[in-house]
Amino acid sequence: MKRLAVLGHPVAHSRSPAMQNAALAELGLGGEWIYEAIDVAPGRFAQQVRQMAAEGFVGANVTIPHKEAALELADAPSHDALAIGAANTLSFTGGEIAAHNTDAGGLLNALPESPRGQRALVLGAGGAARAAIWALARSGAVVSVWNRTLDRARTAYQQIGGSVQLGGGPVESPRQEDYGIVVNTTSVGLEGEDPFKQLPLDPDGFGDQVVVDLVYGAEPTRLLAAARQAGATVVD
Ligand code: ATR
Repeated sequence: MKRLAVLGHPVAHSRSPAMQNAALAELGLGGEWIYEAIDVAPGRFAQQVRQMAAEGFVGANVTIPHKEAALELADAPSHDALAIGAANTLSFTGGEIAAHNTDAGGLLNALPESPRGQRALVLGAGGAARAAIWALARSGAVVSVWNRTLDRARTAYQQIGGSVQLGGGPVESPRQEDYGIVVNTTSVGLEGEDPFKQLPLDPDGFGDQVVVDLVYGAEPTRLLAAARQAGATVVD
């Protein structure tokens, strides 16, 4: 079997095995390839990846909280992954670990229109946030970043600002109505947390905006349900 996996912590919520195995079956590769979810604690991530490369895995997707570690351990990081400072896709060839970032292009593809000229607010400062910040800025948006730990927002902003003009800044108390695009990249909502307690957002404060939630679930997240109710365009 050719083996693929998604690595995360937690990872039980991930739809990647269902999506990727369905794609493999659709391509007639279901008997030959298999995609699984593997829960890896942060302290064991690098060891786990090296072991997978040695055992003949073909590649892996990487999710919370390993996207920065995935870039660090790569032998051959892509230009985009380096600029973003995070990777969500690893491939193993002849013992070499290559790292890519598909979060950036994925976010842009999911938006209803180009973010050029828009003010965008990114919530979070982890690997997914970095990809969102970089993708939005590269596409001409003015990007502000809020994070629970403000210092992490400052660091992400400075690092990504070295390769692309960001325009906005790290913000401590953003006014959500000031932004044409709001992107939640934090894990808030993944385990049922109330986004309106943990994030600087008010359920009644949305308007004619695009609101994106990287958290996914069987139902629209509480964040997207409230945004839609208030008339925003939502992207799940
Ligand atoms: P990923 O690489 O997938 O983005 P991550 O690096 O673990 O994952 O980032 C998770 C993000 O969710 C971080 O911005 C984190 O905030 P901190 O930097 O302050 O830890 C954010 N986050 C997680 N739980 C949160 C909560 N309860 N309230 C607000 N932000 C939260």
